Formats: sequence, C-alpha cells, structure tokens
Amino acid sequence: PMEKLPEGIHLSFYEGHWYRSTFMHGIIPFQQHFKAQDTDLILVTFPKSGTTWLKALAFTIANRNNYPVSESPLLTTNPHSLVYFLDFEIYGKSPILKLEDLPSPRVLATHMPHSALPTSIKDSNCRVVYLCRNPLDMFISYRHFVAKFSNKPFDPSLIEESFDMFCRGVSSYGPFWDHVLEYWKASQERQNKVLFLKYEDMKEDPISHLKVLAKFMGLPFSVEEESQGVIEEVLKLCSFDNLKDLEVNTNETNRNGHPYSMFFRKAEVGDWANYLTPSMLERMNKLMEEKFAGSGLNFKFS
Ligand code: A3P
Repeated sequence: PMEKLPEGIHLSFYEGHWYRSTFMHGIIPFQQHFKAQDTDLILVTFPKSGTTWLKALAFTIANRNNYPVSESPLLTTNPHSLVYFLDFEIYGKSPILKLEDLPSPRVLATHMPHSALPTSIKDSNCRVVYLCRNPLDMFISYRHFVAKFSNKPFDPSLIEESFDMFCRGVSSYGPFWDHVLEYWKASQERQNKVLFLKYEDMKEDPISHLKVLAKFMGLPFSVEEESQGVIEEVLKLCSFDNLKDLEVNTNETNRNGHPYSMFFRKAEVGDWANYLTPSMLERMNKLMEEKFAGSGLNFKFS
C-alpha cells in the first residue's frame, strides 16, 4: 500500500513500517548488504527527534583527540555532512561515500526501526544510540520540516489530516509507537549495546547525559578533562544556539540544494501547544496509554 502526506510526499508500506517511497532504493540494499563492525557506532532516531544534535555530540566525543573544540569541523560543516544516514545517503541511488573510505571507528546514522535493521547490527558488538522525543513536538517539528523541504510555506490547515495519519501510524518510519518500543525493549535486553535517550531529558540535564553517552561509546571523559571544562565546551559547541548561527547553517545548502537551516527551528519542549488542540492532546494521551501500557515508557510534553 501507499499513502500520500498532504504535501504530496508518498509513503510506502514495507514489512510493517512506512517509508518515504523514494527511500526504498536505499532501505533494502542497506538491510541486505550492510556489514556492521564491532567498533561501529550507529545513531538512530525517529525523524525530528534531535538527530542533528546527537550527530554533533557523538562526532565531537569520537573526534575530540583529533581536533580541539576551537578547530572542530562542526564550525564549518553541518552535522549531517559529518555523519551520514545509511538508509538514504550511503545506500540508495547516488551514494555519498563508500563505507570503506570511512575511518574507524565509524559513526553512522539511520532512522530505521529496530526490527528492520540489518542482522549484522544485531549480531555484532557494535553500539546503537537511540534518541527519541515526545511525539507532539516531533510531529510539529516534522510538519515545519516538510514545508521547508517542499519549498512551501508552513500551512497550519494541513495539521489535522497529517495528525490523523500520524496517529494511525502513517508517517515516515512509522508507526512511531513501534519504533520507540522496539528500541526501548532492545535497550533493556542489551544494555551495554543499545543506549536509549530522550530529547527532553537531554535538554534538562545535558551534562549527565553527555557523560553517559561518552561512557557508552567507550570514550569516557577523564577526571582531567572534566576539570578542564571539556564537557561544557562540547555542549556549547553542539548547542542549538551555537550551531544555528554558524555561516554554514544559515547560508549553505546540502548537495540536494536544501538549506542546512531547515534542521534548526526552535529546539523547545512544548512548542506543540501553539498548534495542537486539546482534543488532539487527548487522542495522543489515549494512544500512549494504550501502546506503552506496561512498558514503563513515557514522555514529558512540557
Ligand atoms: P524543532 O523543529 O522543534 O525546533 P532532527 O535533528 O532529528 O532533524 O530534529 C530537528 C529538531 O531538533 C528541530 O526541532 C531542531 O530545532 C532541533 N535541533 C537542531 N539542532 C539542535 C541542537 N543542537 N540542540 C537541540 N535541538 C536541536
């Protein structure tokens, strides 16, 4: 089956999940051919959950001995051009680079659901970091992103239809519930291999979460680094306020001609309240109760 988002973006249903139809060229080859290495770090998100931030943080942690923060490639390169998506950039019609050309340890990204990951990711000892975000902010973030991406003004009248689709599970990489629950369960079953993070928690306490991330990556901050303020430096470098104003992220475009500015909007918790009605909130709360029942999983909406 296929469905069409209000802006005209086609979604295809494949093995229980919805994907942008144009991404199918990469998704199947990624599933079939990717061979994970034990040293790989795979960053996973549902779209608009803070991927840009996670890419920046993980890249900086992994490369902090190669570049002092003042010379970080992030100052001149968007995080998405430092850490690529496997499912539609490394695999697909016009691959950006060859995996063989990446230095080890490799930092890679994907939006793929856990059940759809190539088996080598699950069979190897590679590490997976999953970052999720409350579905209401993520949904609104996605609506804005699709508008920018489609080169159209944001149209609030499209919210109702797309919200209904989202709640029915029809969204890029959806259903959302399955995506989050699968990684939540994987993180409980393989704690040292799958780290589960939430955007709202990271915003509330970035220092602790950066330490957790670095430790999980096998690159914990030393006592010396902590006393030198390296953690704060990394957080400042990767912060929304810093990245969004850099020349690259205000004036440059990616290889498809899309402005890097489309990855930076408000970065707030609770912006959904400016767009969604109380009945939409109620529908979402009911869905969350039903889908996450007994899992221990929940989200902060403000
Ligand atoms: P908003 O649209 O709510 O502002 P993704 O990176 O997965 O595409 O998600 C994009 C969302 O993350 C956007 O949310 C964007 O503003 C926010 N974002 C981008 N860079 C960020 C950063 N460095 N720190 C925190 N949030 C960031």
